Amino acid sequence: MTIFVLATANPHKTAEMSAVLAELGIEVLPRPLGLADVDETADTLVGNALLKAQAVMKASGHAAVADDTGLFVDALNGEPGVYSARYAGEGATDLQNVEKLLRALDGVESAKRSATFRTVIAVAYPDGREVVVEGHLPGVILESPAGEHGFGYDPVFLPDLENARTLAEMTLEEKNEHSHRARALRALAAALN
Ligand code: IMP
Repeated sequence: MTIFVLATANPHKTAEMSAVLAELGIEVLPRPLGLADVDETADTLVGNALLKAQAVMKASGHAAVADDTGLFVDALNGEPGVYSARYAGEGATDLQNVEKLLRALDGVESAKRSATFRTVIAVAYPDGREVVVEGHLPGVILESPAGEHGFGYDPVFLPDLENARTLAEMTLEEKNEHSHRARALRALAAALN
């Protein structure tokens, strides 16, 4: 049986990934306890996802799977991008990141507020093989937040979907059906099948 070790310790991502991998008959093991956080020193999502997958593969001896996500805003030349988690500084809260984003887009008209969430998922195998897939969700950045669900930039991100609402106005089930991460996971399932 194939075994994958998860690089993420986030319970929500763990549940999402385990469900997809279990359907493929892959046994999922949690991130090894005591393994230090991997510094995300690459300047691309692919680079950071591979760094994390390789570190966990080396520490565990098993294939490892890691993801990395960013919000790429066209009017800001792709910022915050790879630096989405720390846009307003190291240890910034979601609220601080969202406030900085809204300030950066102050005065930008709605037609020019397009943005894309991108998720890369990487698998690193002990024999050196790698699988890298991506999922993305296009949308626009609103001028003010709406909705209570989700995390990160969800309250200001209006996806290009029918029945427009921000990601923070969707239930977790709805978001998980359409999200960049869900799309990357479906691409992973297709790549591994
Ligand atoms: P990570 O690579 O999944 O840790 O994501 C990096 C950063 O992107 C997070 O800290 C959030 O600010 C943002 N982010 C990732 N996924 C989402 C999402 O589904 N909704 C809103 N923001 C997200």
